[in-house]
Amino acid sequence: MRDRLTVLAPAKINPYLEIRGRRPDGYHELAVVFQAIGLADRVTVERGDTEAIRLRCDDPDLPTDGRNLAWQAAQALRQQFPDLGGIHLTLEKRIPAGAGLAGGSADAAAVLVAGNLLWDLGLTVSELAALGATLGADVAFCVMGGTALGTGRGEILSPLPATEGLTVVVAKPRHLSVATPEAYRIFREEGLLAVRSGEQLHRFLGAWATGQPEAIAPHLFNDLERAVLPRHPEILALKNQLMDAGAIGALMSGSGSAVFGLVPDADAGHRIAQACSGPVDFWVTHTYRGGIAVVA
Ligand code: C5P
Repeated sequence: MRDRLTVLAPAKINPYLEIRGRRPDGYHELAVVFQAIGLADRVTVERGDTEAIRLRCDDPDLPTDGRNLAWQAAQALRQQFPDLGGIHLTLEKRIPAGAGLAGGSADAAAVLVAGNLLWDLGLTVSELAALGATLGADVAFCVMGGTALGTGRGEILSPLPATEGLTVVVAKPRHLSVATPEAYRIFREEGLLAVRSGEQLHRFLGAWATGQPEAIAPHLFNDLERAVLPRHPEILALKNQLMDAGAIGALMSGSGSAVFGLVPDADAGHRIAQACSGPVDFWVTHTYRGGIAVVA
């Protein structure tokens, strides 16, 4: 019987995010494409010797109590399986928080997937995704990984053909995080909802299926840009810098503050990152067909 399990939990980008309407539960109806990327947190789940859920994290800015989504995931497992006993979690963060890269959701999904394996709970991927969706709209995707179209709150997932090995530069203004509820609130209050046919999504999916950055770039789309970019010109400036430095296409991911650029290859990605100025963190990575993976 193993005492601990360590997994890698990939971040996501959203090359397409269309807001289709408001929902009675306060959320928004989405058509959103999720793509896992190589940037990942390392999450360790251990059997604890007390009844407690304990969380350690190498980022001192993140909460280590019930405000942390990974902690909530452990609690959700224990609610369903009251005999689990203590759960100790260790988060080694690489995915920045408040970036629109699903850092918190990836950790929560990792706890569900690793906990299921460690305690041999026998939950299927769909059951884990459904449990994840009770924690946050992005957690279901993070359980599944790869590439998917999300509808509803983003938690009703249809897998899409893998788009593996597209090189992406992820860039985040170092001192700027965006709170997701705030981005949606601005979108709503400013009446930014537009009526669209399904044609735009259809065209995006056709382009995405080619796997060619040049074909995909003109169809990259994120409705939340209209809410977030006017308030945070540094995000728009970063997007423009990526394009000026040679990115084939660039877009804000989720509710920001990170943007990603499609680039020809890793060398070009590093050159493009170096050409951008300002207090910005960069990661040169790639699209990834997998999800949460056991490493130890
Ligand atoms: O589900 P999650 O906690 O990640 O969502 C964070 C916030 O983002 C929600 O509280 C809501 O304000 C907003 N949201 C939304 N519609 C979605 C997803 C998120 O309004 N489909």
